[in-house]
Amino acid sequence: MTPVVHGMRIGIIGAGHIGGTLARGLVAAGHEVAIANSRGPETLRELVTEIGPGVRALDAAQAAEFGELAIVAIPFGRYAELPPDGLAGKVVIDANNYYPERDGHDARLDDDRTTSSELLAAHLPQSQVVKAFNTIRWDHLRDRGRPAGDPDRIGIPIAGDDQEAKRVVTGLVDQLGFDAVDAGSLADGRRQQPGAPVYGADLRTGELRDRLAA
Ligand SMILES: NC(=O)c1ccc[n+]([C@@H]2O[C@H](COP(=O)([O-])OP(=O)(O)OC[C@H]3O[C@@H](n4cnc5c(N)ncnc54)[C@H](OP(=O)(O)O)[C@@H]3O)[C@@H](O)[C@H]2O)c1
Repeated sequence: MTPVVHGMRIGIIGAGHIGGTLARGLVAAGHEVAIANSRGPETLRELVTEIGPGVRALDAAQAAEFGELAIVAIPFGRYAELPPDGLAGKVVIDANNYYPERDGHDARLDDDRTTSSELLAAHLPQSQVVKAFNTIRWDHLRDRGRPAGDPDRIGIPIAGDDQEAKRVVTGLVDQLGFDAVDAGSLADGRRQQPGAPVYGADLRTGELRDRLAA
């Protein structure tokens, strides 16, 4: 049974392709969203007007405070700028990916000693980090959602160490029209990183499970 999460306050940090798409979808699903970028809320007027009631633009610290749950969708290389205090005690969805050519090289990631999500979790020690929405292209996130049971519905892998946090994220993924597939612990999240077989693959649930296990 998919858990249903109603009318949450959600803070989204990062207002680009992924953050903007999630804001649109989550407002449509009945949530109240605050969204932030790095340049300030006044630069988000157009996006907020387009999405309409249900979304407001704040700065990143305020959006973190606003959310009962937060989503981070920024270039991974800037994760250290995120405000740990406002995110403490909250589920934080990590949609980020590590692209060294964009983010700068990090030897710990290049050697696969750890993952970008574990580095984020270490920066946010009091948050429950769940890796989700990092595998799907933003325009597919916008366009490919389907009702539960639709034969064309695709899965989205989620990884994290906190079962309750994953339960909440599963509900949000479902509301956006996708099946959340449990990919294991945050460390297991390496199986849904760029280069992994499931990355960008838009798979139905069964095949997604098989490829994660392979
Ligand atoms: N594009 C995709 O299809 C896709 C799919 C899955 C995952 N991802 C991953 O999701 C993340 C975001 O990708 P995107 O394509 O949405 O990027 P994008 O369109 O370039 O947007 C990035 C957003 O992050 C904001 N930002 C940067 N640093 C920030 C900070 N310190 N505090 C607050 N906001 C900050 C930017 O604000 P300013 O413009 O004001 O700096 C911008 O709104 C990346 O890690 C990417 O790899 C992308």
